[in-house]
Amino acid sequence: MYEEKFRPQYHFSPKKNWMNDPNGLLFYKGEYHLFYQYHPYSKVWGPMHWGHAISKDLIHWEELPIAIYPDELGQIFSGSAVVDRENTSGLKNSDEDVLIAIFTHHGEDNEKQSIAYSNDKGRTWAKYKGNPVLKNPGIKDFRDPKVFWHNPSQKWIMTLAAGDCVHFYGSPNLLDWSFLSSFGKEYGAHGGVWECPDLIELEIEGEKAKKWVLIVSINPGGPNGGSAVQYFTGDFDGIAFAADTEKERMQWADHGRDFYAAVTWSNTQEPIWIGWMSNWQYAKQVPTDPFRGAMSIPRKLTLRKEEGELKLIQLPIDFASIVASEAITMESFTLQPDKPEKIEINNLQMLFQGKVKGNTASAFTWTIRGENEYLQIIFDGVNKEVRIDRTQSGLTTFSEQFPSVSKMPLKELEEFSIFIDQSSVELFVNQGSGVMTELFFPTAKKMVLEIEAIDGIVDLGDISLKNLQSSWK
Ligand code: FRU
Repeated sequence: MYEEKFRPQYHFSPKKNWMNDPNGLLFYKGEYHLFYQYHPYSKVWGPMHWGHAISKDLIHWEELPIAIYPDELGQIFSGSAVVDRENTSGLKNSDEDVLIAIFTHHGEDNEKQSIAYSNDKGRTWAKYKGNPVLKNPGIKDFRDPKVFWHNPSQKWIMTLAAGDCVHFYGSPNLLDWSFLSSFGKEYGAHGGVWECPDLIELEIEGEKAKKWVLIVSINPGGPNGGSAVQYFTGDFDGIAFAADTEKERMQWADHGRDFYAAVTWSNTQEPIWIGWMSNWQYAKQVPTDPFRGAMSIPRKLTLRKEEGELKLIQLPIDFASIVASEAITMESFTLQPDKPEKIEINNLQMLFQGKVKGNTASAFTWTIRGENEYLQIIFDGVNKEVRIDRTQSGLTTFSEQFPSVSKMPLKELEEFSIFIDQSSVELFVNQGSGVMTELFFPTAKKMVLEIEAIDGIVDLGDISLKNLQSSWK
């Protein structure tokens, strides 16, 4: 189990069959719950269930039985979960707090919101008899409720994707919902429908102040094609969200092609989120077996002021517990012009980190090379961008949309962390200020890591190449 080709070793993936969005992210009594869009009978998308896994550390996962099954009201589409500590719903019937899942019932007629509840720490779920709790008002795409308790206005708030904007609803008890406001018609990217929204309050680094952030997935319409996650910073007063950026401004959480439907855990001390590591353009064709779909690594969220603007910052959770003892570390090292440094790699489970102390090169490249194939990250100092080139990264022809060179603007590279896990790369630059997540499917038996400074030198500091152990063992 979990040893198949391309199987992520420290990312969550289901044992078998199809998975997409993370759902119902909830922390309760030491357990992080991860529910997910799941089709238990095949490796392609089909009637949606909520699959279920739990973890104590967000690294080691245990898959549990399916939590919620489709019924006469429809399939179980994406949604969220909360701890109803005060029993506002009246659905508590044991010593445990009642956990409430709020999801979309996707019926042949329309999409509406329903709830299920658990009185045994999320192990079993019963659907509420009065479903749906929020009927369809005549909008085709009306889904993916994300709920949280808003203390100042003493009510539950639901953020819901409605066509290509979001609606906010309020409720005293999770059962009766009333419309509050809508946001987004004139804001941000509109190349596709809006999906899987989230509204959270985040700290601004180095300040006491907090700001609200509205997160919205969009498909298609991402900056490098297909699915992507955009966000808006602003204020929320318990009724409406007011963005503090210009209407035309687009801000992307991740500039890679494989980070979608990301939302935060509820009931945690710090805001942490996770995304589905794929893209609807080719998700149904990726060459993995007997599973299809994996989650990103979980990331902590904050805001940082950069050039007068608030930016969403993502920092990977701590993976120290699975760092293998053998590691290559160096305090400093200078890459000479056009003289690639080569390091043999014996497995594709690693974390490469470093600081850039000096850089006169036109480009600094980082390449995983095997016979006839490579995956390359290019820090391009001339065009002020980072690119991930996976055009010749192994298996690429399963979809015309897959081979690509994606880009992220980057003024200057100060620091980087690159996580590789069998068939994925997650690049974090400048302490979480820029992120790119991409899949690739290498086939070569032997691989070499090459780092190179083009037309100049790159002075690196605090460099380390660490192997990460499998979290399935
Ligand atoms: C996003 C999404 C959601 C929907 C779910 C269906 O990837 O399209 O909007 O609820 O997937 O599986």
